[in-house]
Amino acid sequence: MNHVLSAKQYTKESLEELFCLTDNIKQNPEKYADKLAGKIIATMFYEPSTRTRLSFETAVLRLGGRLITTENASSNSSGRKGESLEDTVKILQGYADAIVIRHSSDTWPEEIAQIATVPMINGGAGKGEHPTQALLDVYTIREHRKTLDGVKVAILGDLLNGRTIHSLLRLVSLYENVKVYGLSKECFALPQEYIEMLKIRGIEYKKCTSFDEIPNDVDIMYHTRIQSERFEGDFGREEYIINKEVLNKFSPNTIVLHPLPRNEEIATDIDDDPRAMYFKQAHNGLYVRMALFVQAFEK
Ligand code: CP
Repeated sequence: MNHVLSAKQYTKESLEELFCLTDNIKQNPEKYADKLAGKIIATMFYEPSTRTRLSFETAVLRLGGRLITTENASSNSSGRKGESLEDTVKILQGYADAIVIRHSSDTWPEEIAQIATVPMINGGAGKGEHPTQALLDVYTIREHRKTLDGVKVAILGDLLNGRTIHSLLRLVSLYENVKVYGLSKECFALPQEYIEMLKIRGIEYKKCTSFDEIPNDVDIMYHTRIQSERFEGDFGREEYIINKEVLNKFSPNTIVLHPLPRNEEIATDIDDDPRAMYFKQAHNGLYVRMALFVQAFEK
């Protein structure tokens, strides 16, 4: 079964296969216009989403498939009446040929994998993983830089709760000679589990306390929003804001990525800088997700 549940399932080779297919879809979308003909895809988002849900749904329509969905699964599905995600999936897989889910549980993907009879796609799992976001992030870096071997990546923002960060680290650490720099408020520092994972894979991780500790020639600055929906209490605002003044201390080749939505961590005064690639990154999500659907039904 071709599930997309975790960044853990990818290798450098399988990423390249996905990205070559994505390139082809991006260049020749008309060739793929009927790939999902006759297929019905269900999208069940128990948390808010603009990009992930709507790019998955656009991908289905661009591939000639059809959709069943609920506008807000946490309030409009029978989850509201206490139905478990497992029971919901058992029902939906009798209706649809693949299911895309976003849910606040960190562990739903591994639980649902045990009962799934159709391809399941993780559109976000609590503060655990967001693998399809990381796939489009890495695709965008590859598009810009040709390879991730030798890449220097700074990760910023909420490294504790940011599921996009967790999946991204699993993917970038598949490449050679990668260096990762982490800059966040102490309360949002990268969990030890990910520091250990990087160490085991031979990736250098440097915890930074200011922009000055990130090398000027860093290739990627990947910022993230404080995930205030994931914790109780007030941990204050983001301290490390990328604005024109900050960005201009870095190389003309340093690009800025963000999974979006953003709050104040990236100032709008850099939006027109060619190094600000977060909108292009989000648009690449459509093509990567089209490729994931093609793969889901091909192998
Ligand atoms: N990047 C991302 O997951 O965005 P949405 O929450 O809008 O889907």
